[in-house]
Amino acid sequence: MAFRLRDFRPEDLERVIYINRTCLPENYSSYFFMSVHKNFPDLFLVAEEDGEIVGYIMCRVERGFLHRWSGKAPKGHVISIAVLPEHRRKGIATALLKEALARMSERYGAGECYLEVRVSNTPAISLYRKLGFEETKVVPHYYLDGEDAYIMTKVLERDNP
Ligand code: COA
Repeated sequence: MAFRLRDFRPEDLERVIYINRTCLPENYSSYFFMSVHKNFPDLFLVAEEDGEIVGYIMCRVERGFLHRWSGKAPKGHVISIAVLPEHRRKGIATALLKEALARMSERYGAGECYLEVRVSNTPAISLYRKLGFEETKVVPHYYLDGEDAYIMTKVLERDNP
């Protein structure tokens, strides 16, 4: 494996924003990236190859308002994942996602993980299916350009996330 994963650090911000803008139409402010990092520092990971960041995953864990009383486990949410085009199909997204899922389950007690994906995004849908996600819902016109989203969900098992 020529790449390695590590936690995002504030000095990575510019490079992560570059990767986000290169790969996805859904872009976020610096403030948003940094607030996810502040709240869930171990769920924002980067992949490095030869000392250069080539991909990232940014996730959070959501606890419903009634979570404590209902006994429902928190949910992991993949907010954004991207790998630069020239570094794709080498297992980088798989490694990022697997590590984030394991951390959500082990460190935050997440019982499931969900994400949104464009219905036309075949590469990402294939990746998620391969890791055990299933399409559970369609959200019409979810994206700004009017495209629908699938909500894809995976149950996280404590010993086998
Ligand atoms: N076509 C079909 N299946 C694909 C694919 C493609 N272009 N790219 C990945 N997959 C599927 C395959 O099943 C692949 O396994 P295989 O290579 O053994 O066939 C599996 O996903 C794992 O691929 P992996 O190498 O781990 O993914 P990656 O590092 O290339 O990154 C994305 C995948 C989706 C993150 C990358 O294509 C990307 O950054 N796309 C743009 C941003 C994006 O769409 N993010 C998701 C938003 S919801």
